[in-house]
Amino acid sequence: MKLALLLFLLAADQLPEAPGKATFVKVCSTCHGPEAVTGMGHDRAGWKDLVSDMVDKGAVANEKQVSEIVDYLVRAFPKKPR
Ligand code: HEC
Repeated sequence: MKLALLLFLLAADQLPEAPGKATFVKVCSTCHGPEAVTGMGHDRAGWKDLVSDMVDKGAVANEKQVSEIVDYLVRAFPKKPR
C-alpha cells in the first residue's frame, strides 16, 4: 500500500460519521487528502460552489454523488458561527 493512501485512510478515519462519507472519501481523495476540508465550514450554498469548483478542476462525480457529498459536508462541516 502506498504511504499516501495509508495516511489518507488514517485521516479519513478521523472524519465525522454521516451519510455520504464514503462517497466523499472516494471522490475527493484523488488530488488531496480530506484535511483540505476539515478546517473549513460552509453553508449549503458554499459547499455546493466548492464541490462544483472541484468538479471543474477534474473531480469525477455524477449528480447523485455530488449531492451526497454536499449533504455530507453540510452536516459534517457546517458554517462556523462568527
Ligand atoms: C482533480 C483533482 C481534485 C479533486 C478530485 C478534488 N479537488 Fe479539491 N482541490 C484541488 C486543487 C488543485 C486544490 C488547490 C487549488 C485551489 O485552492 O484552487 C483543491 C483545493 C481544495 C480545497 C481548499 C480550497 C480553499 O479555498 O482553500 C477544498 C476545501 C477542496 N479542495 C475540497 C474538495 C472536495 C470536497 C472534493 C470532492 C468533491 C475535492 N476537493 C476533490 C483539486 C481537486
